[in-house]
Amino acid sequence: MTGDEHAVDSFLRSLHEDGVRHDEQTEDLTKKLRNVTPSTGRFLELLVEEERPASILELGTSNGYSTIWLARAAAAVGATLDSVDRNSDRHREAARNLSIAGFSQFVRLHNQEIDEFLQQHVEARFDMIFLDTDRSRYHEWWPTIRSIWNGKVLVCDNAVSHSSEFQPLLEVLDRDAWLDHGVLTVGRGLLLVRQRDQAKTDGAFVSLQIPGNGL
Ligand SMILES: C[S@@+](CC[C@H](N)C(=O)[O-])C[C@H]1O[C@@H](n2cnc3c(N)ncnc32)[C@H](O)[C@@H]1O
Repeated sequence: MTGDEHAVDSFLRSLHEDGVRHDEQTEDLTKKLRNVTPSTGRFLELLVEEERPASILELGTSNGYSTIWLARAAAAVGATLDSVDRNSDRHREAARNLSIAGFSQFVRLHNQEIDEFLQQHVEARFDMIFLDTDRSRYHEWWPTIRSIWNGKVLVCDNAVSHSSEFQPLLEVLDRDAWLDHGVLTVGRGLLLVRQRDQAKTDGAFVSLQIPGNGL
């Protein structure tokens, strides 16, 4: 499928439809796929193309739906992409879906606990991080995430749908004078974080923020 934009788009559409159907029929939360919305996938793709990170980390792969959106953009801008999920079934499905979409060679999938991944990658540096996993742990993971993230762009999904769960993280972010953040009403709500940089205040990221929509 590599290189065929229409085939990838149509695969993403069917993956999304199957995911919605699957989640509607599944009671057990650990068995749900909980994919991002198509608008969030497209937004992530545009954000990568705009910001051109050299390295991207996704926490929460599931079956690879958001990973394919990120991988297509990573391939276009020459970025590396790492994605982590502890669920072995999801990990296998993601590997299969990335292979069908033709992006296997652009992604390193890590089937492990995020705590373990972070411990093993304290020396790593990522330009962009996408958080779509256990929101109750974000503030706890934050010191390590902050140390491996170089401040370019960080995105969290569900910032509107589960806004109360973001309070501990937002308190941590508010205490860091170097950070700027805002919420976009794309999909289930995206919290965007970046390090302040006077030289970039006219950049694309700032223009994407919606004033007055902060959490
Ligand atoms: C909302 S889903 C990710 C959806 C995916 N980004 C997408 O759009 O297709 C969250 C995932 O995080 C994983 N997860 C939750 N807690 C984790 C942890 N402590 N370590 C590793 N993975 C975890 C779950 O297995 C689940 O697949």
